[in-house]
Amino acid sequence: MRQSERLNKIPPYLFAEIDRKIAEAKAKGIDVISLGIGDPDTPTIPTVVEEMHKAIDEPKNHDYPSYNGSEQFRKASCKWMKERFGVDLDANTEMLANIGSKEAIAHVFFAFVDAGDYTLIPDPGYPVYKNATIFAGGTPYSMPLLAENNWLPDFDKIPEEIAKKSKLMFLNYPNNPTGAVCDLDLFKKAVDFCKKYDILLCHDQAYCEMTYDGYVAPSVLEVEGAKDVAIEFFSHSKSYNMTGWRVGFVCGNAQAIKALGTIKNNIDSGVFKAIQQAASKAYEAPKEQIEKLNKMYKERRDVAEAGLRELGWDVKTSKATFYLWLPVPKGFTSEEFATVMLERAGVVVPPGNGYGTYGEGYFRIALTKDIETIKKVLSRMKEAGISFNMGRAVIK
Ligand SMILES: Cc1ncc(COP(=O)(O)O)c(C=O)c1O
Repeated sequence: MRQSERLNKIPPYLFAEIDRKIAEAKAKGIDVISLGIGDPDTPTIPTVVEEMHKAIDEPKNHDYPSYNGSEQFRKASCKWMKERFGVDLDANTEMLANIGSKEAIAHVFFAFVDAGDYTLIPDPGYPVYKNATIFAGGTPYSMPLLAENNWLPDFDKIPEEIAKKSKLMFLNYPNNPTGAVCDLDLFKKAVDFCKKYDILLCHDQAYCEMTYDGYVAPSVLEVEGAKDVAIEFFSHSKSYNMTGWRVGFVCGNAQAIKALGTIKNNIDSGVFKAIQQAASKAYEAPKEQIEKLNKMYKERRDVAEAGLRELGWDVKTSKATFYLWLPVPKGFTSEEFATVMLERAGVVVPPGNGYGTYGEGYFRIALTKDIETIKKVLSRMKEAGISFNMGRAVIK
């Protein structure tokens, strides 16, 4: 079999290697706890499930959906963007339904990137930005997210010759994997930069409703004139516990929405209409349903952060997402530390280098297990002698 060259160009999939190590650990009889994947462990919010029961019984929902998304879903999504962020959008030209956000994030690169083009992507970052650039024949340019900049990119550090060759920039706040947040000022700078160099600004706001301690995440489209250069990807996955449903939307610049729609029309055939009907209802769900989820994650965060502090980590309190991004103990690479966690404590944590070069030296914890399990992880770490100040000597 002769596979395409593009498949050889993407980096080896680190998470497949983790799966192999988990299988090995399980075969040795280790009781493995995974804090690896950002997949909510509690059910979809009740409002959505109730609506789906009705929607599934409707024969009108059983045929092919429209490519762009049902009028009801697009209008409901525009209404939510208006109420939540004060952003006005045209449901026909500035809004598109997606099969979750991952596919649309990957496909936008095919609409804007040709061989020789660069993309500006956050590093560490959601791996799809880099791999989709490569699939489209482009070259990813890393914008380092560093602790000293509060995990925000520094646009002044992007060389002019790279900026001129760049077609697309991705930002993602609240951020995976760092858990960092930003304010509108960062988006203003990004809009200015992208206007200057004629770059499509893509903002991935998968985690905008998963916020704590009074922090409210902004939309890039709140910036005046943002629609000239920007689009924003929203996902129902994390906000409403709907990862398996595969639904979300992208909105903003009409030309970009049309271009992405053209790629998608030729590849997929839309979102199941019953899911769009149920997803439209998510926006009307009583606030308490979301608040309940955020309260749960906040409690988990507090327990995890307190326990990690006891183990020597200097943890900064995370205001959003269900991720903790932590430095590995001195002397370890990210992969070595992930292996120690698995082999000594039976705990799976993704090594930071899986999210990019600048992720080396870190690991991520997803708070997708209940408090009892988080406590169990912390006590297993303690018993195994795993702490921030542990030396390599503990490893035989
Ligand atoms: C930053 C970010 N963007 C997008 C996604 C994709 O989510 P979905 O395809 O479920 O909408 C994820 C999933 O983990 C993510 O972390």
